[in-house]
Amino acid sequence: MDEGRIGRLAWRRLEPFGAEVDFDFRQPLDAVERAGFRALLFARRMILARGQALSLAQQQQVAGYIGPVLRGARGLAEISPKDGILNEAPLAWHSDLAFAPEPFTALSLHAVDVAEGRTSTRFADSVLAAATLPPQLRAKVEGREAVFVQPLSPSTRQIDVQGRHAPVARALPVLMSHPVTNEVMLFVNEQHVDRMADGGLAEGHALLSALFDHLYAPAHVLEHVWRNGDLILWDNLALQHGRPDVAGIRPRRLQRASVARRSLAEQIPDFFKGRQAPAAAQAGY
Ligand SMILES: [Fe+2]
Repeated sequence: MDEGRIGRLAWRRLEPFGAEVDFDFRQPLDAVERAGFRALLFARRMILARGQALSLAQQQQVAGYIGPVLRGARGLAEISPKDGILNEAPLAWHSDLAFAPEPFTALSLHAVDVAEGRTSTRFADSVLAAATLPPQLRAKVEGREAVFVQPLSPSTRQIDVQGRHAPVARALPVLMSHPVTNEVMLFVNEQHVDRMADGGLAEGHALLSALFDHLYAPAHVLEHVWRNGDLILWDNLALQHGRPDVAGIRPRRLQRASVARRSLAEQIPDFFKGRQAPAAAQAGY
């Protein structure tokens, strides 16, 4: 379907994924609209609404239509060049906390003060990438797992740094079912995966390179260039996100709400040992 209506919400399809919704989200949704909104988010993986003017509490209410929201000190409420966590660093492709026991369910960003047209966030579709995976590559990954590690840096690919990471690492199926939609995702990301769980390192390295080339190809990517008032919510598992270097781009204030049951600090208390500011305990990586 290319467009539709859920109660007072009119939506139209974006490509290659996403839906744009016309609605002033300062008004609460009723029960039917909430259910339809959540279904649309998981069906289209991203929802964009322009021209919003939401307080943090109002944005958290919108995110709350998807699931439980991290509030107060448990959630990082703003992304900016001086947020003390990510600052101006480019961000390699990832899903927040994919390496942790409970990756975040969904995320939202709201442009409250940005240099319009000069800064973006990129999204890549792991479901689409799984569906278009060439048969030769599919044959090489079916039934295999990749190892997720705590990233040493949010800006770089974690390949071949085995042994230098903190001890928490876990293996997940390369072709994994989405917990809500059951769709197959190509679930590897360059910020968190450092090797295949089996086979030689060189073979795994080459295989991951081929998977990343496919996953992050233009056909699976949407780059959102921010305008003030934009609100985006996205499925954190079906979509990966990243950004180019944002050095020197001012202002770039993106208000944030996270749909998750437990923060990073609650899931991996040692994650920030020896790292930067205490504020980092609120971060989603
Ligand atoms: Fe992130």
